[in-house]
Amino acid sequence: SDIEKGTYDHYMLKEIDEQPGVLRKIIEAYSTEEGTLDIAPMIKQAFKQADRLYIIAAGTSYHASLIGKEYFEKLAGLPVEVHISSEFGYNIPLLSKNPLFLFITQSGETADSRQVLVKIKALGYPSITMTNVPGSTLSREADHTLLLYAGPEIAVASTKAYTAQLAVLAITAHAIGGGAQMIDLKKELALTANAIQTLTDMKEEIAKIARELLTDKRNAFFIGRALDYYVSLEGALKLKEISYIQAEGFAGGELKHGTIALIEEGTPVIALATQPSVSPNIRSNVKEVLARGAHACIISMEGNSETDDRLILPYVHPLLTPLVAVIPLQLLSYYESLHRGCDVDKPRNLAKSVTVE
Ligand code: AGP
Repeated sequence: SDIEKGTYDHYMLKEIDEQPGVLRKIIEAYSTEEGTLDIAPMIKQAFKQADRLYIIAAGTSYHASLIGKEYFEKLAGLPVEVHISSEFGYNIPLLSKNPLFLFITQSGETADSRQVLVKIKALGYPSITMTNVPGSTLSREADHTLLLYAGPEIAVASTKAYTAQLAVLAITAHAIGGGAQMIDLKKELALTANAIQTLTDMKEEIAKIARELLTDKRNAFFIGRALDYYVSLEGALKLKEISYIQAEGFAGGELKHGTIALIEEGTPVIALATQPSVSPNIRSNVKEVLARGAHACIISMEGNSETDDRLILPYVHPLLTPLVAVIPLQLLSYYESLHRGCDVDKPRNLAKSVTVE
């Protein structure tokens, strides 16, 4: 590739480290002359005409979409459905009167997502593509494009595109909502960039957690509630793709409905506890798995932490915690992949963009 790795051994680590800079770039790109954050008037108009948003995506972009739903519903009062692109065609939901389709795709080339765009365009529905690649297929074929400004992402495992997607989703939802919400988004995103920086400076500590928790393990569980649940899905996908450890992310409340049967002596359980509203519940899940021999690791946030937590994330606004909580999960996967001698940037059986259905 013509993009240089510089002093880095792997693109993935370089791209993880780029995240604070990407966030600052996004803030700049979406800043108005008045110093607030906004999106193009035509795109805002498309959102204003919609009575429901359908977000279509795959993989990591799907995981970002789940968080995007919360943003649109909380910050803009716009109802959202999120669909896995490969499934949409088999199961087209009953659409609202004025649907708007948002395709979230780092590459803008994912065939599964493109077939949905082709279908809904034939039906005459409006579309927006949120992508990192200007001029990509889905960008050209949709009515509008929202850019991610993450810079080229080379590693197969998506990292900076995910945090960029979350930031642009928050900015878009905030703009649609008229910015009248209780959040100073520009300030909070800038603080989030600093928080990410703090974590990318804690590599040794996070590599140590990977050693403690994942050495010789064949499986791992990620649990969370509310927004943390969605981040746990992303944490599990990262670990699967680059370290080949079988991993599962799920809602803490679902443990007792089946998965707890898998917990044995030493089973790694990574619990995210950044959400103040559900903290007692997720902590009681951790007690349940500890009682069955699990090796649990709680990742919490300043202002909502307890003494035994393994990692305490710097405080950010509760809506933006996913951008911060995902960082240690990306790093855990990176170091475990490295330790196992896997091909970090080009994991087996995977391609950077999946251009077949
Ligand atoms: C993420 O680490 C993956 N390699 C993969 O799930 C990816 O997010 C998915 O293929 C979607 O790609 P896109 O965002 O380019 O459409």
